[in-house]
Parts: sequence; C-alpha cells; structure tokens
Amino acid sequence: MHYHRLSVLCALAVIARPIDSVATPFPPNWNHMHTKHRWNTIPGKWESIGRPPVGSTIDLCIALKPHREHALTDTIYEVSNPKHPKHALFFIPPPTQVTLLRSRYGAYLSKDQVAKLVAPHPYTLKLIETWLRHHGVSPSNVSTSHGGNWLTVTGVPVSTANELLGASYQLYRYAETNETILRTVGYALPTALHAHVQTVAPTTYFGSPLTSQERAHGHRGRAVAALSTRDVRVTPAALRSRYNSVTYQPAATEQNRIGITGFHGQYVGDKDLKRFMRRFRSDANDPTFLVIDINNSGYDPKKPGFEANLDMQYTQGIAWPTPHVFYSIGGQAEEFIPDSFTPVNTNEPFLGWLDTMIRSEDIPQTISTSYGGNEQTFPPDYAKSVCQLFGQLGARGISVIFASGDSGVGGADCKKNDGSGVVEFQPIFPATCPWVTSVGGTTGRIEVAAPFSSGGFSNVFKRPDYQTDAVLGFFQQLGNQHSGLYNASSRGFPDVSAQATRFVVILNNKDMLIHGTSCSAPVVAGIISLLNDYQLSQNRPVLGFLNPWLYGIASQGFNDITHGSNPGCGTGGFSAVPGWDPVTGIGTPDFQRLLERLPIPIPTPIPTN
Ligand SMILES: *[C@@H]1O[C@H](CO)[C@@H](O)[C@H](O)[C@H]1NC(C)=O
Ligand SMILES: *[C@@H]1O[C@H](CO)[C@@H](O)[C@H](O)[C@H]1NC(C)=O
Ligand SMILES: *[C@@H]1O[C@H](CO)[C@@H](O)[C@H](O)[C@H]1NC(C)=O
Ligand SMILES: *[C@@H]1O[C@H](CO)[C@@H](O)[C@H](O)[C@H]1NC(C)=O
Repeated sequence: MHYHRLSVLCALAVIARPIDSVATPFPPNWNHMHTKHRWNTIPGKWESIGRPPVGSTIDLCIALKPHREHALTDTIYEVSNPKHPKHALFFIPPPTQVTLLRSRYGAYLSKDQVAKLVAPHPYTLKLIETWLRHHGVSPSNVSTSHGGNWLTVTGVPVSTANELLGASYQLYRYAETNETILRTVGYALPTALHAHVQTVAPTTYFGSPLTSQERAHGHRGRAVAALSTRDVRVTPAALRSRYNSVTYQPAATEQNRIGITGFHGQYVGDKDLKRFMRRFRSDANDPTFLVIDINNSGYDPKKPGFEANLDMQYTQGIAWPTPHVFYSIGGQAEEFIPDSFTPVNTNEPFLGWLDTMIRSEDIPQTISTSYGGNEQTFPPDYAKSVCQLFGQLGARGISVIFASGDSGVGGADCKKNDGSGVVEFQPIFPATCPWVTSVGGTTGRIEVAAPFSSGGFSNVFKRPDYQTDAVLGFFQQLGNQHSGLYNASSRGFPDVSAQATRFVVILNNKDMLIHGTSCSAPVVAGIISLLNDYQLSQNRPVLGFLNPWLYGIASQGFNDITHGSNPGCGTGGFSAVPGWDPVTGIGTPDFQRLLERLPIPIPTPIPTN
C-alpha cells in the first residue's frame, strides 16, 4: 500500500522533470550524499581525542520538515496576537448553550493539536524508514520525539552513524573543563533526504548551554562577588517598588505556575531560598518549589549554584506565592575516562529539556532561562529546529523568557568562525529565536543600559513581523553607523530589559553580589507571571507567546530606556534611544501600566438570521 503510494509520487516527480534528464530510480540512491553542515575547523577550544571505543553507540535525533511549512507560524500569530483578525467559533455548553464568535487570541493549542500542526508528511516518514532500514537500523529502534516531527533512533553503533551521515564521529574534549562529547566536524545526508530533514543531532553542535556569566567570564563566573557593606544593593523589595508590583496579591495560585531551568549542575539551595525570603520577603513563609529532574541531573539542594539560586530567589521574591517548578537538567558532557566502561554521553541538554517539555501535558505558563551561546556556534539548521520547538511552546500558551547575554554587541575577538577572519557583531542564541522573549539589562537608580547587555541582530532568523515598526524606527536613528557589522534584515534582540547589576543573592549562607542579564530574565519572568495570575483570576487566557502583545498595546506599559550603550567588538556598540533599541529592547516593565493594557478577548454572539 505504502509502496504503491511512494511509486506514484516518484512517477509524478519524474514526469515533472525536463525530458532529457535521467529519472531517479526508486528507491533513491542512498549513496549519493550531499553535505548538510560542516565546520572549517574543530570549533572553539575543543580538541579531538580520537575515535570512541569500539562498540560505542549513539542516539540520533532527526528533525523532519513539517508537512505544512507555515502552519505553526501562522497559528502562533493567530493565538498570540491580540489584534489578529482570525476568528473562531466557540460553543458555550449548557445551560448557556450558545455559539460565539471570538478572536482566536488566547485559544492555545493542546499538545496533540501542536503535534498535528508540525507532523511530517507520511511520505517523509516512509522515506526515512527506508533509508534507516537500508543501513540495517530496525524500525523498533525508532520513536517519535519532540512533539512528533522529530525521530529518535536509539542505540545506533557509531560505525553505522558514520555511514548514515557520511560523518566521522570522534571524542572531543573541552580544554578548560575536560568535558568530553561525541561529535563530528561535518555530516551529510543522501540528496533525496535534504528536502525532508531539518537537522540531525548530535552532529556538529559542540557547545553546551552556559549561563550568561560563564559565557562572558569563563566558568568561574567573575560577575559573582562577595558583598561588601558599601555596595548599593538590588533586592526584591527594590525591584517590586521600581516595577510597580508591590500592592498586587496573586489570586490564581491554584492554576498559575512559573518554571526555571537549571543546566550544567546548577541546583537551587532550599535552605538559601528560605533565608533569602525570610530577609527580603518577610511576608513569605516557607517558600517551596517542585523539582523536576530531567536526564539524571544529580540534583542536590546541598550543592547550590549561583545561577540557580539567583533565578529562584528573584522569581520567588517577585511572584510569591505563585508555585515554582525547577527543571534540573542533566545530560551535559562530563569528563570521559577512556579506559572506564562508562558510556559516552551524547546527549544535548537543550534538546533533552525540550523533549520533556513538549511531551508534558502540563507546563508552567511562564518559564525563565538564563543560558545560551554565541549564535554562530550553533549550526543554522540546528538553531532553527530548536527555535521551532520554542515556537511549539508558544502555540501552547507558554511565555518563554531568555536572558539576552552579557557580552554587549560581542565578546572576545568577534571573528566569524568560517575562517574568513571577518569581524562582525556576535548575537546570542536562543535570545535571537523569534519565538522567545529576550531580556537585556539596565543599571542605576535612573535606569540606563547596562554596558554588558547583549543585543543586536541575528544572522539566522529573519525579522519577525511583530517588530518591524520598532526596528525600522531604530534604524532611522542609527543611520549608517556600524553598517556591515550587523544584519539589518533579521531578528533584533533583546525585546525588553530589567535591572542587571548589584543583585544580592544568598549562596551557601553567604551574601553575594551578582551582575548580568541572568538577573534581568527572572525579574521579567516574575512580572509576567503576576500578569498571568491576574488574567487567570479574571477567567481570561494567559499571555502565552508575548512578543506580538509586547510590541503592540503593551509597549506603552514599559519605561523607555534612552541612555547607555553596549560596547563590544572594538566599537562603542549600539546606543539606547527613544523607542526600541538592541540594548534595552522596548524598556523595563511597569506592572500597573501593563495591567491596564492586558488583552481582553470579548466574544461576540453570532448574529442569527
Ligand atoms: C537498537 O539497536 C541496537 C543494535 O544496533 C541494539 O543493541 C539495541 O538493543 C536496540 N534497541 C534499543 C531500544 O536501543
Ligand atoms: C583535565 O585533565 C588533566 C589530565 O588528564 C588534568 O591534569 C587537569 O587538571 C584536568 N582539568 C580539569 C579542569 O579538570
Ligand atoms: C532524557 O529524558 C527523556 C525523558 O525522560 C528520556 O526519554 C530520554 O531517553 C533521556 N535521555 C537520556 C540520554 O538519558
Ligand atoms: C542575514 O540574516 C538572514 C536571515 O535574516 C540570513 O539568511 C543571512 O544569511 C544573513 N546574512 C549574513 C551575512 O549572515
């Protein structure tokens, strides 16, 4: 049956070709390979330590192209843009029993509805199965993951993976930390599969998510310092007062939740949280959080990390008593000891986390993440596939919030990693993904841009419609300054900002002072979570993917930041100006003003005639 169908499709393809071309025989020539992605050299500070032990296996994730290319994007806008013209019918059950016409805004999708939206064509699945079978991979080793347009192939011998992908998998060690991963510098796919496969992982993505501090200052996190008595301090009280949320009492804590991610062995110290809340939120007794351990993170509340403590202490400090979930995500590379029999860790933490999220029926409405890396270290197809997964969360009504990064317009030498030696500004991913809300940093009593606040323009993602006016407004003020150093046709970031310096954090019972956009993201997430609380308390949909609303009616609910800049790459960077700018976005939140600008979907009864 399937075979018949494949033949028909193939015959059509043959008819569509010019008559003098040679018809592709079915099945396709699996040996005709075409490069999918390849680096010029081994990335960054990784070094090869040779092939993995004989018999090693790898789990491969294959992201397939959805059958309906624009379905997810169109739907995200329909459900997330309060001004979207698309309407849908709603039936109100008995006793009311009427059908209403309502804007699709806020009609978020279920897990299964999203899975249908991104599903690959059955032909794509059949083709992949045939290819895997050709290489001796049994269908019983293949399962769907990440919402349905990804396949996970488990237990693939590395030698088979090398054949499937025209790859040369080796063990690579990161010089500074001895983390060891199994990767290949390049990979290919049969020509016939290029139209069907978005990306394969793990292949050429060598990084692992780092906190913005680790990225800007190395793993030691130099932006963390002991507190001295003379330091000006930022505390939850100061932030709640500055951002105008002091008087709000959460009223929907039965339904509303906020999530925080912890990668890289960052755990929340429960005792530190209690001490922090006792001191800085004295109305909060016994703060708690639920820990969800993903891929054996080794979660241990007795080994707190500065990033995890910062994130949890500040979202709790702002959004308490909203219930908190801490995702403790394992799967990062560890030191590999060649003669031990420990299996090689091939997992990618972002993908492991996203897989779990997308499988879950029940996700916190707001999620804050303070990790990322230079966009150019992510293979473009890989970045697009990961970003699409954030889009899936947006379609389900989740606000996904990321720190923008701590390296201004770019840290280090800003050279392109293609060997050309060309210098360009270095955007940060996932902050550049159009389906997340990225948060830059400000500083001072009268807020100005924090000089380290990462911002600029993607080289991978096109400019999304929601920010066109804002970005063009900025370009008018910019003129031709920095032209050639950034990509004027693409997604600008960050979207918004918040305080980023002098945060007091309790770590191992000591007061620390922390700087970075890692501070800003949980603050914005806390404020958004309070707004979601209000919406839920009024029986309205939560805010979901925020950006169409943020750049629309909500923009007047932000304090415009018009001073400061984000130097880097040997330049003065971009300047904060009136309106949106790639340093502070549209500005810092004002809870009360935002409360007045919340979307209120009003159903209209269907006219009967
Ligand atoms: C997958 O295939 C390998 C052999 O290639 C086998 O050892 C393994 O048990 C299979 N199943 C799973 C679930 O990995
Ligand atoms: C990495 O391993 C080498 C020896 O294999 C050791 O000397 C060094 O201290 C290790 N570095 C770290 C950061 O663990
Ligand atoms: C990570 O966790 C997911 C969900 O719990 C599981 O399906 C997957 O096999 C895990 N992967 C690894 C490498 O442990
Ligand atoms: C500029 O960004 C677009 C996506 O918006 C991308 O397709 C293009 O390759 C980028 N140009 C450069 C020089 O990176």
